[in-house]
Parts: sequence; structure tokens; C-alpha cells
Amino acid sequence: MPCPALPDGFDFTDPDLLQHRVPLPEFAELRRAEPVRWIPQSGNAAGFQDEGYWAVTRHADVKYVSTHPEIFSSYLNTAIIRFNEHIRRESIDAQRFIMLNMDPPEHTRVRQIVQRGFTPRAIRGLEDRLRQRARDIAEGARAHEGPFDFVTSVACELPLQAIAELIGIPQDDRAKIFEWSNKMIAYDDPEYAITAEVGQQSAAELISYAMNMAAERKRCPAHDIVSTLVAASDEGNLNSDEFGFFVLMLAVAGNETTRNAITHGMHAFLTHPEQWELYKERRPGTAAEEIVRWATPVVSFQRTATQDTELGGKQIRKGDRVGIFYASANHDPEVFDRPDEFDVFRDPNPHLGFGGGGPHFCLGKSLAVLEINLIFNAVADTLPGLRLVEDPRRLRSAWINGVKELRVGVG
Ligand code: HEM
Repeated sequence: MPCPALPDGFDFTDPDLLQHRVPLPEFAELRRAEPVRWIPQSGNAAGFQDEGYWAVTRHADVKYVSTHPEIFSSYLNTAIIRFNEHIRRESIDAQRFIMLNMDPPEHTRVRQIVQRGFTPRAIRGLEDRLRQRARDIAEGARAHEGPFDFVTSVACELPLQAIAELIGIPQDDRAKIFEWSNKMIAYDDPEYAITAEVGQQSAAELISYAMNMAAERKRCPAHDIVSTLVAASDEGNLNSDEFGFFVLMLAVAGNETTRNAITHGMHAFLTHPEQWELYKERRPGTAAEEIVRWATPVVSFQRTATQDTELGGKQIRKGDRVGIFYASANHDPEVFDRPDEFDVFRDPNPHLGFGGGGPHFCLGKSLAVLEINLIFNAVADTLPGLRLVEDPRRLRSAWINGVKELRVGVG
């Protein structure tokens, strides 16, 4: 039965919608009445892919799609359901070098190489430096005399430093990386006025920066991911496009997602003061995962069906696009008790905020969880009386649950 409560023309990837809210009531309605539903794409989605997509909203179905790459391919579908008209065909073709857009066996080969840079040892090796950075960031924020923006003063900084440490980017170049990565992701928001040219130029500059780093590390290897990848390239296992796009992806994936998780986490604490009190008192290790479930910074990704198949009682045809909505899965009452409550002690918490457990499962999960823990510990120690001054100002985006500004006050 078609879902009665969803108005005609409702599109979960409409940037005007996400600029205001994550459509949780509509997700709930679909999960109940029509968990896999065809959504004709609205508005200004790029012409060559404006035919629509299947919205997959239940936890079990999102997991199923994610773990069956042979039926639901990531190849060349650019992961994101909607591109705005500025993103051109040629830039999408180039994106086949990004691992998020690969299928096994290419994906398996690249993933095996790059995950050498994400071993538990490599992440542990960053912990002390990141803890100190988190303290410095919180101390810096305490110095504000009046209200300040939590996003720029706190949430941006640790993810940037973490990813820069991991990649091995010198301190002086870090702001540049941050700027490039912002320009590549905020193209749907007119406030940033990012044209296709600017987005593509940022990508090209970042890739060329990465190539220069690689040349340097070849001469003089260091303990960083670039050196690991350069060694793999020398063995012939990773081509130079794959290398450049991997560094680009790390810069984007490592910055934006974690920044939004931290900002939403702070907002959740300030609007659930009893949870903030509990957190400050007991520092539960479960809080970071709950923040990611609650915020779900990546609302959706997409796949393409490689064959005719059935899902949630619907006939999916070969070539159909399939949108997997992590934000909906993370509120599925079949899996979560009281899914609409923010509960820092939630355990177990099988959320899909880092992906549905398939081959593309977030490579940076342990780093992201570490960062979230470190920053909230530092904020709880240094800024225990933080208060909300204004509601968050949200990013206009088709797939990111983003916040541009969160005004808070000390004490
Ligand atoms: C993939 C979310 C932080 C690197 C993904 C995926 C999601 C995600 C949903 C796709 C999973 C799938 O398709 O099954 C997040 C969230 C983060 C976060 C919510 C923060 C709270 C990070 C960080 C890094 C990172 C810090 C790197 C330092 C990656 C990479 C992939 C990925 C490389 C692609 C993996 C592949 O295709 O095999 N992430 N991520 N992420 N993430 Fe994250």
C-alpha cells in the first residue's frame, strides 16, 4: 500500500528540506507503511540522474543493501544520491578513483592497502597528542568573554588536526586543507557561493598537494599514511589516481562528518541537560556511539542495482538507484528501544551511522570515536556550564546533516 502520509513530490534529498530538519516523521511513516518506496527526484538534481531512487528506510534493509555489493553496486554512482547542477559529468567520472565508489575486487585491493594506515596501533599513537589538542581547544574556547560559535571555536579543530596528523600534513598547511575540503562539500549551500569551477579547482589543488607530499615521502619516508601508501604504489598496488583521490577523500570524510557529530552532540547535551549532567559525572564510553546515532551526520548514500531483485516487497530493476537512509535506520523501533530518546548509556547500540557493515564500512570509525570522546571529556572538564544561546544554523545539503553555526555561552 502506498504511504498515505507522504505528500506528492516529497524528496528526502531535497537540500531545502535538510537545511531545516532531518525528516524523521516522514522516515517513521515510510518504515511503517512502505519501507522501500520509489521517490521521483524533485527540483534541480543534475539532469542525467534525475529519474528518482528507491528510499530504503528500515534498519534491516539498509544493512542488507550495504552487505550485498554484488546486487547493490557502489561503482561509479558517486555515493551521493543528488548532485546539484554545478557538478559536471567529467568530475563524476573522475570519482571512480574514490574507494567509496568502487566494488570488489578493486575496492578490496585498495581497502587492504589503505587500512594499513588505520591500525589500532596507528590510532593509539595519535591519542596523547589529540588529548592535548582537545584540552587546548577547550581552554581556548573558555577565553571567550561573550557568546561564541561552537562550530568554528571547538568542533572544527580536532577533526582537522587528527586527519592532518594521520596524513602527515605540516601545521602550516592545515588551514589550506580545511578550506579545500569545505569547498568540496558545501556546494549546495548558497552562503558559500561555491561554483563548479571552485569545487573542482579545490579538488585539483588538494590532489596536487598530495602528489607533492608523495614525492617528498618517496625521498624521505616518515611514520604517516602517505609513506605507507607511497610504499604500496612502489609495489605497483595503488595507482597514482587512487592515491590522490584517497587523500582527498580522507580530508573530506575525516573533517566534515566528525565536526558535525561533535556539534550535534553538544547541541544534544545542551538540550538534554540531564544527559549532560550524567555525562559530566560518569563519562560513559557509550556516549560517542549514541551521539553518532542521534546525529547521523551522513544521512544517506546510494547504490545501483546490478540485477532485477526484490526488496521490502518491491521489484527493483537492474540500473535502479537505491538510497540507503542511515538516519532512518538509526531511529528504527524494531532495533532501538525509545529510538527518539538521546541516552548516553545506550548499550547495545547497533546504529548504522558509520555504514551498514558492508565492505565500505567507515574506515575512520575508531579515530572518530576517539575524537568525540576526547573533545567531550575536555569540554566537560573545562566548560561544564556551557549554555545554548541560539538554535543551530543548519547547512543546506542533500545528504549531510550539517551545522554551520552553534552559538553558545560560557557559564
Ligand atoms: C565511509 C560515516 C568519520 C573515513 C563512511 C561511510 C559512512 C561514514 C556512513 C560509508 C559506509 C558505507 O557505505 O557502508 C562517518 C561518520 C564519521 C566518519 C558519521 C564521524 C562521526 C571518518 C573519519 C575518517 C573516515 C574520521 C578518516 C579519517 C572514511 C573512509 C570511508 C568512510 C575512507 C570509505 C570506506 C570505503 O569505501 O571502504 N564513513 N565517517 N570517516 N569513512 Fe567515515
